[in-house]
Amino acid sequence: MQKANINWGELGFKYQKVDKVYVSRWKDGRWDDGVLQDDDKISISISATALHYGQQCFEGLKAYTTKNGDIQLFRPDMNAKRLQNSCKRILMPEVPVDKFIDACLKVVEANERFVPPYGTGATLYLRPFVIGNGDNIGAGPAPEYIFCVFGIPVGPYFKGGFKPVKMTTAKYDRAAPYGTGGVKVGGNYACGMLPHQVAVEEGFADCIYLDPETHTTIEEAGTSNFFGITKDNKFITPDSPSILPSITRNSLLTVARDYLGMEAIEGEIKIDEVDQFEEVGACGTAAVITPIGSITYNGKKHIFHSEEVAGTKITKLYETLHGIQFGDIEAPEGWIVKL
Ligand code: PLP
Ligand code: COI
Repeated sequence: MQKANINWGELGFKYQKVDKVYVSRWKDGRWDDGVLQDDDKISISISATALHYGQQCFEGLKAYTTKNGDIQLFRPDMNAKRLQNSCKRILMPEVPVDKFIDACLKVVEANERFVPPYGTGATLYLRPFVIGNGDNIGAGPAPEYIFCVFGIPVGPYFKGGFKPVKMTTAKYDRAAPYGTGGVKVGGNYACGMLPHQVAVEEGFADCIYLDPETHTTIEEAGTSNFFGITKDNKFITPDSPSILPSITRNSLLTVARDYLGMEAIEGEIKIDEVDQFEEVGACGTAAVITPIGSITYNGKKHIFHSEEVAGTKITKLYETLHGIQFGDIEAPEGWIVKL
């Protein structure tokens, strides 16, 4: 199969049209079988709840090419279940796990020429999403829904790839204590755009949110979870109902414990105690692992290891996770789904 004419090593995180997208519709209590279509536009009602009331949610996962040319997904069942939780939270019909995984595999197969080759570091990013559709104007759930999956070849989310970035704490919140921070709904991202832009204008790659109730503990960044590694080899990541339960973070807890012999802890991280960490990072499907070189909080900059080069512990975490995702290191059972 002839690959698309793309400079794989130069890819950033940008939309581009590929060959096929998957579209399935829900009406009268059931999902249809779904189709692969060439058109990357979908037509929806002018009164769709997704447009007016933010009744929509999404996922992000990746397809990886291994050394021998196989293509594989990383823990798609976890994304399927998280999408179900998001759907439940905003009263949308759940997409069955099998249907979700099948749709992702269909999209990868139909766009195989856009799946980046092994060794380029690039991947096919899959974006499944569900939106409320149909004629509706009251602020209640929609009469119809659409589940789509599209894929795009991507490189690093943060410019430069695996290189330290500078972050600042945000004065804003992305989530409320009993709100929707723990699910992946679009509203969480709409309210994150301004804080992100403010941080970028101040020279930071992104902002880190503190807990919405007391602003004393670290929650996560706008599009990734947070973790720190102490001098005595503890891997610590926040545990909070208002952060998105990241699949990368969940995987890193296993990698840190079972592959690297670290103590892996989910717990509270007080912003005032952030200097306990030797190295810190952000993690997510798009962000993969991004070392955080410094965090500015209350006008004071806290540097972790270095603002220029990644530390050895985070590098080891990155290499191990990357190795598992690209098939160079054996994955725990059930983590890999091959095309
Ligand atoms: N936190 C937020 C707010 C995100 O948008 C993402 C990205 O999906 C993550 C964390 C990381 O989650 P995952 O590792 O499942 O991609
Ligand atoms: C992902 O990592 O999949 C995300 O959803 C982040 C995205 C908002 C760019």
